Amino acid sequence: MSALEIIILAAGQGTRMKSSLPKVLHRIGEKPMLERVYDTAKRLDPKQIHIVYGHGGEQVKATLAHLDANWVEQDQQLGTGHAVDQALPAVDDGSTVLVLYGDVPLMQSSTLETLVAEAHDKGLALLTVALDDPAGYGRILRDDQGRIQCIVEEKDASPEQKRIAEGNTGVLAAHAARLKGWLSRLDNNNAQGEYYLTDIFAMAVDDGMEIHSAMPETVEEVMGVNDRVQLAYLERVYQRQQAETLMRAGVTLADPARFDLRGELNVGQDVYIDVGVVIEGRVSLGNGVKVGANCVIKQSRIGDGVEILPMSVIEQAQIEKNCVIGPFARLRPGTHLHEGAKAGNFVEIKKSEIGAGSKVNHLSYIGDTTMGMDVNIGAGTITCNYDGANKFRTEIGDKAFIGSDSQLVAPVVVKSGATIGAGSTITKDAPEEKLTLSRSKQVTIKNWKRPVKQTQK
Ligand code: UD1
Ligand code: CA
Repeated sequence: MSALEIIILAAGQGTRMKSSLPKVLHRIGEKPMLERVYDTAKRLDPKQIHIVYGHGGEQVKATLAHLDANWVEQDQQLGTGHAVDQALPAVDDGSTVLVLYGDVPLMQSSTLETLVAEAHDKGLALLTVALDDPAGYGRILRDDQGRIQCIVEEKDASPEQKRIAEGNTGVLAAHAARLKGWLSRLDNNNAQGEYYLTDIFAMAVDDGMEIHSAMPETVEEVMGVNDRVQLAYLERVYQRQQAETLMRAGVTLADPARFDLRGELNVGQDVYIDVGVVIEGRVSLGNGVKVGANCVIKQSRIGDGVEILPMSVIEQAQIEKNCVIGPFARLRPGTHLHEGAKAGNFVEIKKSEIGAGSKVNHLSYIGDTTMGMDVNIGAGTITCNYDGANKFRTEIGDKAFIGSDSQLVAPVVVKSGATIGAGSTITKDAPEEKLTLSRSKQVTIKNWKRPVKQTQK
């Protein structure tokens, strides 16, 4: 069997996106469309992937520099045939070529495998699609025995041809040497003055070849993005697919239409996800994790039995078993909650270890802190980790108790079992098992009178 080489066309301007960003860099599920197509292509294990770029090409190349591809520039966009032709000098004559599009992001590799198998066999295969409204698509003309004769572009089609419901997806697979031959004979004598890739089919028929065709499982697979309405539509299709995959894997989604996964989610058993949750980057949720409404979880590991209450934002954090988070908690990068810890209402934590069973329940900021086990942090406690120039660490030993509304001015150590009186500003280390507090004396002023409003005369 011949080797496979894949050409991805990505030179179009995307004028209708009305964007400074090249169209193929617009994202579906947080990943640039072109990268999605590349990932799909990669699954076919090709010998080489060629990407034809043009408009905004340098930006496309720079953004996707990590892709293992042969980048080919198409200076002027003279048509799809011309675009494919730019990549062909780098393609081996003996290969089978598959043509894909950087703005058709949801193509399935299984569909492509079928197509490529047909082309290996017969030299040329085309992916077509049956459409309720084929407007805008090239139409497939077949003879009375159902054999493909040619493709007519919408703009060159007669009213009768426009009634044909079978459209050209643009995706095709062909024997490389033959493709080179056909493309060298293309002209641009048509309504758009372009070199049409689609004209190769009539040439193949002239050569006495039979053209094989396949269809995708769903129309969404072959839908392209020309504007932001179509981008949003395919984003929803993609999200629906992911939601279904998760539900089949045993996740309960309160509403699959109100769940967004922009990355990769690994799940244990019996995970429950309420409405409005957004997952970004690589996230894992252990067995029995519950995620409340409107939480955002990014690049984090959440252990078994953790409960995340509504409106919490968690980023680059590690949460061990049975912790409770939120509502309205913000866990920033470097937060590590050990087993059974709590980070409650309006609590912000960053770069800190929160020991097992420790509780930071209300209105606190904990930053650059190492906290032991079973610590109780009173409401409104602040670690003052920043002097305006440098950051310092706070250490809090096991079973310490920090009274409400305290400030721990770092660098500072609160030893194990220490108690800090409410309202204290702690600037020096607090010893073990003792009560430490800093508080001005309470006084009551005798003979004081509350002022009264003066009446005007
Ligand atoms: C093309 C097909 C049409 C098919 C439709 C499916 C041709 C002549 N027509 O039409 O039969 O039904 O796709 O969407 O092939 N591109 C380049 N360089 C170019 C021109 C295009 O890279 O010089 C890329 C574009 O970025 C785009 C794709 O090729 O991703 C399709 O080009 P476009 O001009 O949009 O073709 P259509 O008119 O949609
Ligand atoms: Ca198009």
